[in-house]
Amino acid sequence: MAHSIGIVRGDGIGPEVVEQALKALDATGVDYEPTEYDLGARRYLESGEVLPDSVLADLAGHDAVLLGAVGHPDVSPGVLERGLLLRLRFEFDLYVNLRPVKLLPGAPTPLAGKGPDDIDLVVVRENTEGAYVGEGGVLRKGTPHEVATQGSVNTRAGVERCVRYAFNLAGRRTRRHVTLCHKTNVLTWAGDLWARTTSAVAAEYPNVTFDYVHVDAACLYLVESPERFDVIVTDNLFGDILTDLGAAIAGGMGLAASGNINPHRDTPSVFEPVHGSAPDIAGTGRANPLAAVLSVAMLLDHVGEYEASARVERAVAVVLGKLSGTTAATMRHSTDEVGDMVAEQVVQA
Ligand code: IPM
Ligand code: MN
Repeated sequence: MAHSIGIVRGDGIGPEVVEQALKALDATGVDYEPTEYDLGARRYLESGEVLPDSVLADLAGHDAVLLGAVGHPDVSPGVLERGLLLRLRFEFDLYVNLRPVKLLPGAPTPLAGKGPDDIDLVVVRENTEGAYVGEGGVLRKGTPHEVATQGSVNTRAGVERCVRYAFNLAGRRTRRHVTLCHKTNVLTWAGDLWARTTSAVAAEYPNVTFDYVHVDAACLYLVESPERFDVIVTDNLFGDILTDLGAAIAGGMGLAASGNINPHRDTPSVFEPVHGSAPDIAGTGRANPLAAVLSVAMLLDHVGEYEASARVERAVAVVLGKLSGTTAATMRHSTDEVGDMVAEQVVQA
């Protein structure tokens, strides 16, 4: 049966990279039924609508959603982030944000002496709790006595389901190792909840090894010795920060893909490049579409099209070899050309 896929092209370079990602998807021959949704800054600026309930309900009916990028300088910070991206994550209970940090052959890394064998990990970022839930508030705004609090909410159930996903994932990988990254030496309550939960889950997975690294040290190790990591599990905000660093060591933002996953599949998981709408380069043909293409590879894997997923990833590696040294900042080919090269490779592979 055809996979039903919601498409949100979004703003800026979003539509440009989604176009190329769909070329790769088409080239796989996988049967899918696309439905387009007009969401993002353009719609908001025209109508004041961010994510109407009826649109949310329609999106909920798909097997998966592919999202380009949303955002525009005229929209205040937080409107689309909270109203669209986070709302999708929360309403669909997409409790895992899966972010591979994998240096594909041919992709550049700023780390001297490190190659694809050294940089092959995946971050399992908790995606529905932590500092992102909007706990807290502001008092006496605009006065010298202004107070702002923004707490981090961590539930045993929410942490446990995310950690369990990480151990299951690690069990299917070669290294079978999970690292918890937190800040247990300072965040003694939330950190303790995470540490106890992770230890308890680890005890159920004798074939998976487990260690703990403070998140600040993890930043250091990601640069100095990324080979020590296999699966990193971490909270929402630490995961946000660690995965930008992860993108930097694994080919740059132009290659970083992600999946907002509901492992139970009763709501659609949302796949998106980690990068934003990059209004500064929109329309110039300089956007790197490979992050969106790799997000399609993740989407295919999620809907059970494993062979097609592997084919797309291999095609990206081949194209990277041909482009040599291409990053988001140094694209020598147009967005469209790169998309065509990938699609051609997907067909051949
Ligand atoms: C990301 C982004 C989002 C996040 C923003 C845009 C809400 O930075 O997907 O990493 O913080 O999760
Ligand atoms: Mn981010």
